[in-house]
Amino acid sequence: MNDSSGGVALLDLEPATSDFREQVVAGLSASPRTLPSKFFYDERGAELFQQICELPEYYITRTEHEILREHGPEMAESVGANAELVGFGTGAGVKTRMLLEHLDNPIAYVPVDISKERLVESAMALRLQMPELEILPVCADYLQEMRLPVPSRKPDHIAVYFPGSTIGNLEPHVALGFLKRVCQLCGPDGGLIIGVDLQKARHVIEAAYNDKAGVTAEFNFNLLVRANRELGADFVLPCWKHRAVYSEQEGRIEMHLVSQSEQAVHVGDHVFVFRAGEHIISEFSYKHTIQGFAALAASAGFRLSRTWTDPQQLFAVLHFVVPV
Ligand code: AVJ
Repeated sequence: MNDSSGGVALLDLEPATSDFREQVVAGLSASPRTLPSKFFYDERGAELFQQICELPEYYITRTEHEILREHGPEMAESVGANAELVGFGTGAGVKTRMLLEHLDNPIAYVPVDISKERLVESAMALRLQMPELEILPVCADYLQEMRLPVPSRKPDHIAVYFPGSTIGNLEPHVALGFLKRVCQLCGPDGGLIIGVDLQKARHVIEAAYNDKAGVTAEFNFNLLVRANRELGADFVLPCWKHRAVYSEQEGRIEMHLVSQSEQAVHVGDHVFVFRAGEHIISEFSYKHTIQGFAALAASAGFRLSRTWTDPQQLFAVLHFVVPV
């Protein structure tokens, strides 16, 4: 379906409500119980995530911006001239702009994001700033196979941009499958620029996901709010608590929704009974080492070409190429 929103043609492959229902029911029936984190990003969730990015404890966005400000021109040089830039989960598009503005004759920009409002808004804003650039937004879950729109001019090569350490949401075997597909999309002349959050002291990570202002908790609860609104579920918010714990063994932060009492929750015809203290896993956010991530990407067919980090080594932006 093509929908012309504010002069930017949108390819709309947004997951249907029936997908959300199916995945909520499947996740709550599983053991341990889960809710898929990609459904955080409805309009309210995207707004809450924007607020998270500005929290003093949430070092991720701030640090990635710092790296981009410092090394944006080198990253653009690594991408090379006449590229088609495909962005996965590029959200508000602030980081993409910091890369695009240094690119030599970009042919087109194809942002792929699950949050439609955020995607359309950022595409329209970018269009005002770079009127010459062809922008072809796609609203989709980037884990699904999809046919991307083809720019009207032919690029020399494709560069994929995957900022924000969103790859961290994927369990390593899923990340591997995704990277293999990205590698195919890039082809022999292409490349990948990806933001990866690095392993560090537990207290720094846990603080980032348990902020004092409670924004992350609200972001977590928004999944339940969304299930209530869109699926007619009956989660009672005060009966749930937010928790985020770092597992050093797995190298990941786990966000939980913890049931505060024994309770039953209805989703359509399904009834789920929770014990007091029982939890739902709502998100994993993996933290990598540069070597560990480079090894994962190597099994997908990529070779690490360049690395940029901040002085404290909190975060890394990596450039991968596809060896011929
Ligand atoms: C958007 C997936 C990078 O894992 O840090 C922020 C999402 N969750 N606070 C992350 C998130 C809780 C974020 N990513």
